[in-house]
Amino acid sequence: MQNAAPQTIYLKDYTPPAYLVDSVHLTFKLAPTTTRVIARIAFRPNPQAQSREFFLHGEQLRLISAAIDGQPVTPDVTPTGLTCAVPNTPFIFESEVEISPQTNTALEGLYMSNGMYCTQCEAEGFRKITYYPDRPDVMAVFTVRIEGDLPVLLSNGNPVAKGEGWAEWHDPWPKPAYLFALVGGNLVNHADSFTTMEGRDVALNIWVRPGDDEHKCAFGMGALKASMKWDEDVYGRAYDLDIFNIVAVDDFNMGAMENKGLNIFNSSAVLASAETATDANFERIEAIIAHEYFHNWTGNRITCRDWFQLCLKEGLTVFRDQQFTGDMRGHAAKRIDDAVVLRAHQFREDGGPLAHPVRPASFVEINNFYTVTVYEKGAEIIGMLKRLVGDDGYKKALDLYFDRHDGDAATIEDWLRVFEDATGRDLTQFALWYAQAGTPRVTVTDAFDNGNYQLTLTQMTPPTPGQPEKAAMHIPVAVGLLDNAGKEIVPTRILELTEPVQTFTFEGLAGKPVASILRGFSAPVILDHTQTNAQRAFLLAHDTDPFNRWDAGRALAQDVLHDMVRDDKVPDAAFFDGLAAVLRDDRLDPAFRALVLGLPSQDDTAQALVDAGQTPDPTAIFQAHEALGLQIAQHLQDTLPRIYAQMAVTGPYTPDAKSAGKRALGNRVLALMSKIDGGRQAAAQYAEADNMTQQLAALGALLNIGKGLDELTAFETQWQHDRLVMDKWFGLQVTCAGPENTANVAARLTAHPAFTMKNPNRFRAVFGALKANAAGFHDPSGASYDLLADWLIKLDALNPQTTARMVTSFDTWKRYDTNRQDKMRAALGRIAGTPSLSRDTTEMVTRILG
Ligand code: ARG
Ligand code: ZN
Repeated sequence: MQNAAPQTIYLKDYTPPAYLVDSVHLTFKLAPTTTRVIARIAFRPNPQAQSREFFLHGEQLRLISAAIDGQPVTPDVTPTGLTCAVPNTPFIFESEVEISPQTNTALEGLYMSNGMYCTQCEAEGFRKITYYPDRPDVMAVFTVRIEGDLPVLLSNGNPVAKGEGWAEWHDPWPKPAYLFALVGGNLVNHADSFTTMEGRDVALNIWVRPGDDEHKCAFGMGALKASMKWDEDVYGRAYDLDIFNIVAVDDFNMGAMENKGLNIFNSSAVLASAETATDANFERIEAIIAHEYFHNWTGNRITCRDWFQLCLKEGLTVFRDQQFTGDMRGHAAKRIDDAVVLRAHQFREDGGPLAHPVRPASFVEINNFYTVTVYEKGAEIIGMLKRLVGDDGYKKALDLYFDRHDGDAATIEDWLRVFEDATGRDLTQFALWYAQAGTPRVTVTDAFDNGNYQLTLTQMTPPTPGQPEKAAMHIPVAVGLLDNAGKEIVPTRILELTEPVQTFTFEGLAGKPVASILRGFSAPVILDHTQTNAQRAFLLAHDTDPFNRWDAGRALAQDVLHDMVRDDKVPDAAFFDGLAAVLRDDRLDPAFRALVLGLPSQDDTAQALVDAGQTPDPTAIFQAHEALGLQIAQHLQDTLPRIYAQMAVTGPYTPDAKSAGKRALGNRVLALMSKIDGGRQAAAQYAEADNMTQQLAALGALLNIGKGLDELTAFETQWQHDRLVMDKWFGLQVTCAGPENTANVAARLTAHPAFTMKNPNRFRAVFGALKANAAGFHDPSGASYDLLADWLIKLDALNPQTTARMVTSFDTWKRYDTNRQDKMRAALGRIAGTPSLSRDTTEMVTRILG
């Protein structure tokens, strides 16, 4: 394969397609290494076009023949596509190509996984299937015929006809090529049905390989039906085909894909049973099923004009799935979970060499921009818009969006215009959220005088790659005021910060209040609010806003850790007392108490130290975390067993939020207890566990204190037949390894017969865990850096997408001391110097090195 010099693509260069497609007929003759794809495409010149050049994307295709209006032609073929002379009037382009799904290890285009044919076309995979204008603003009606000696043959839309060894599908909704999908295999379906509010009976199927997986579909099906109902109830959007299929695939680069009528899922994102999946897995599955289903309206019915607009569908769809999970499982805990993810991953990305705007201005490989910034910060922007225009304004704007843009390939400008038209607000400044990278920092000072409370907010967004200067943003800051007794005296209101510095006055107060700022995490900013431990403890005890209540505890813990890392300082008693009060408060939801008890991650602490202008030492951070955990366990010694017992869930396992919350708290407590009881309770829980949540938590608690070797072996014996459970077994050992041991443990696991780099889940189990074990990854020997680099170099030749994604483990290299910096740079240099490194990985390494 030859690699053309990597080309940068710019948003500003967008031009409309030269030709539009009315319809496509595809015939697939499936064969592992010699699949034939016959395409019949009805083109017409686009009246809006600026050029008449006819170019079809196509990569790694063997062209057998081509014709225009029935006359054979010989196009000019390059490694990226073909050109050809075409008429000025509508015409039919036909081609036949050969492709090899069996050897497609990149898992993009048509590939095979465990004997099953499947596709992944977003973003630009369709061009590896046939010659086509593979861009989202070319939308067409697809008819697909599949021939293959397999019992189940699926594609988008509704089934038309089928016989022995063939099936035909027709999708009446015009769609871009990235939403095309095909599946062929020996599969069985978990079937159900749903009647839409418009009275349409929809057949629902989850397709899996025969065997154990058949018993892991019920939960996903329930989540699908709940999602369909929710989108009707909350957004007024009904499903629009007679059938909705989900297929579970073991080898998949991402979580799942919203292909029209045929969603394809990483099996880890759909299959679950009490015995094999944890509460966290159940919640993730519910959210991903909802996410992909919601794309039917926000993504498929309204798609993106070009890939720079990715956040148009992803930010909105993430926001919708977050709302859904909040409705299903409780909004307070969901908001906290989302903020934890955003701060841990998006703030990290936004503060390093990979920072990019939610709508990037350029890219080399679009797959590198399926990021937490596009997705999660993209969702935060929707949340801010909703806060600014209110629930009614949001509803009006969304109705207008669906009305005005159904069937369109739209842009962020279109999106913002519906908000302006529906609510009359001027969003010119707000639009900067899409264009400006970096996490704004909002600093708070206050003053009280004569009944007037003045809050002064200062905003600053740091420079990011390519964006040295930043303008002031439009930031909704939710604020409430409490009196000294903890009573709320001014309920939450939204302050709109639009200037670099702005003062807001609250009048007629009896005394100086305690301000609760950025309630509900009303904007994705870093809040710089100097408070004493006593003030933080006060808010932890009294804030009426659950997010800020939790966040006060978090800030307190962060301060404590910071002091311990810096000068071994003994934690303030206010911290332990605050934790104990929350832990013992039976009126509080166990899920919330579990969140308060969860310390910031070691990487969070490193980030906080960087924010404070220091060089973090991962080893010292690890030690501080360990020491603090032990001290918490000792301080709460008397309380822990009581809470643990109270959190026992009796009866058969159910994954509902209430029992999951109890288990979450029980298992946090168990981890603490293990630090002082030598693992006695954890071993008992392991022995009794009848579900994966309890089993895995017990095993983790044991491994974390250097025990549990027998359990680890027993676990392997028990679960060696189950790939998804074995991923946990691989990952947990790396997560729980001590810092000096982490690289060895990971290396040993790569030699295990069940390790394979061809399966992204398995590769991520080991190497995602290596990144997550911050002290182990950053062990000063550099052993983990070298191990990861070795494996990424090997993986790149097979699967560039997953390699490029995992190379981001190195994106914080500039934070650290020169020893670690040198070693990380050397590892990155070694990757960069690999002959014929993929475009994906080349772009990422180049950006990381800066
Ligand atoms: N649209 C999918 C989702 O968010 C993600 C697919 C991304 N795939 C990729 N190769 N970049 O649901
Ligand atoms: Zn999505």
